[in-house]
Amino acid sequence: MNFLELLQKRFACKEFVQKKIEDKDFNYILEAGRLSPSSFGMEPWRFLVIQNQDIKKQLRPLCWNQKQITTCSHLVVIWADIEAVQDESYIWKMFARRELSKEATKAYIERYKAFLQTQNLDCWTQKQCYIAAANMMSAATAKGVDSCPIEGFEKEKVEKFLGVSNIALLLAFGYCAMQKPPKKRLMLEEIVQIV
Ligand SMILES: Cc1cc2nc3c(=O)[nH]c(=O)nc-3n(C[C@H](O)[C@H](O)[C@H](O)COP(=O)(O)O)c2cc1C
Repeated sequence: MNFLELLQKRFACKEFVQKKIEDKDFNYILEAGRLSPSSFGMEPWRFLVIQNQDIKKQLRPLCWNQKQITTCSHLVVIWADIEAVQDESYIWKMFARRELSKEATKAYIERYKAFLQTQNLDCWTQKQCYIAAANMMSAATAKGVDSCPIEGFEKEKVEKFLGVSNIALLLAFGYCAMQKPPKKRLMLEEIVQIV
């Protein structure tokens, strides 16, 4: 399957059959998230993987009662670590691996910190999470695994229940119980402007 065929194949699955994803396939999906690009290389994404059925059952009413929550094999909560991106030792760890001179590293970090001042941190870190999410869904398709991105949830309640903050989105993975609907997208002429 070439990459565009893979993108054509992926769709938002609304209900999954009872079948577990094998560890090797799920690890492949996680690896696609891990390898994703991020602004300044800060990798603010964190993946909370829920397989426990009781936890999924308790989550479902907080997620617009969507069937994907309880029927999926693996539910991944992608949250953004805002504390890490402001933490001095984390910042040094992430920049030091570029192996620049100490002076250059310091200057780069100053630029980073000035950039942070211009950003809404909730929003900036979550944007990176969406890049990882897209790669994870594509990787899943490559392994024959279906998925659904989920923003339909009560953020404060879910965060309190799971004990995590700044959740960007949820990703449900499994094997779909429904037929793939026809792909509906705007035409290129409607979204591309060439100057
Ligand atoms: C960030 C994001 C959040 C979404 N949230 C939900 C959701 O809560 N429930 C749902 O059924 N679909 C959700 N979707 C799926 C979209 O409705 C779907 O991707 C879109 O209609 C295009 O259809 P396709 O993905 O099947 O091609 C979400 C998609 C994205 C990208």
